[in-house]
Amino acid sequence: MLHLDHVSKSFRNKRVINDLSLSIGTGVHGLLAPNGAGKTTLIQMIATLIRLDSGNITWNGQDIMVMDEDYRGLLGYLPQKFGYYPDYSAEDFLMYIAALQGIGRKRAKPLAKDLLKTVGLKDQGKQKMKTLSGGMIQRVGLAQAMINDPELMILDEPTAGLDPRERVRFRNLVHALSRDRIVILSTHIVSDLETIADRVIMLKDGQICCNQSPRQISRWLEGKIFLVPADYRLGQGQLLLEDELDGDATRLRIYSPEPPSQGQAVPANLEDAFLVIYGDEE
Ligand SMILES: Nc1ncnc2c1ncn2[C@@H]1O[C@H](COP(=O)(O)OP(=O)(O)OP(=O)(O)O)[C@@H](O)[C@H]1O
Ligand SMILES: [Mg+2]
Repeated sequence: MLHLDHVSKSFRNKRVINDLSLSIGTGVHGLLAPNGAGKTTLIQMIATLIRLDSGNITWNGQDIMVMDEDYRGLLGYLPQKFGYYPDYSAEDFLMYIAALQGIGRKRAKPLAKDLLKTVGLKDQGKQKMKTLSGGMIQRVGLAQAMINDPELMILDEPTAGLDPRERVRFRNLVHALSRDRIVILSTHIVSDLETIADRVIMLKDGQICCNQSPRQISRWLEGKIFLVPADYRLGQGQLLLEDELDGDATRLRIYSPEPPSQGQAVPANLEDAFLVIYGDEE
């Protein structure tokens, strides 16, 4: 169990994480927030890469800074910008990461092969990294985060830049690898989380403004999302979510706490929640 207790972090005078407390158990936790909201900052603190200004982070009750190597031994991490040597093959790269983790060559070799198989790159292991597609490279990134069979795996925007098919593939992989571990996956793409996240954690003003399952979130918005005619004028408390094409006609998708004078209620999705929560930010 990972526990964040009153964690704060500022850069210069800007408070990015503000007195944030959070407990995380097994399962996939989606960290969903717009660009610049502080996802990477939070993740880098959990990965012990940057210091907290105040508060503390514990793993099963022990301070992660005090645990030091013991903690890093149970952590798998895929950074937002992950560095690799373009001339290394995928297998060489995994061997290199294994060596950094103190895993001997004899054990590392079959492990690297196994992991490449798991991420669907059995036949590409000998290929230089620079010849792989973006989706394949992200899968190598996932494999390196798995090398120590981590109890806690953190993936910072792993699907950025992937096409929809690779995105689905990556999502399914993460889901398959998430059993019996904690996975924290940051993204600003709602569809990354809709089907695999046990919980969706949203950040706003450096704090957690939502920590619920996708289903709970939809329930929270039930009866509050409507399609109304294109000429509908928004009333107080109502929010335009998006223009929707409906055959030849355009309709507006709106959030409205009370039923509007015209239009029909529709099921809510996670994207609606994102737009409602962050709708007032420019
Ligand atoms: N090392 C740093 N020095 C100064 N400011 C920083 C530093 N790292 C982050 N910031 C600022 O902190 C804020 C949060 O950045 P962070 O990278 O955590 O956001 P994010 O949610 O990961 O965004 P993105 O979706 O773009 O990756 C931003 O305003 C950023 O400019
Ligand atoms: Mg980031």
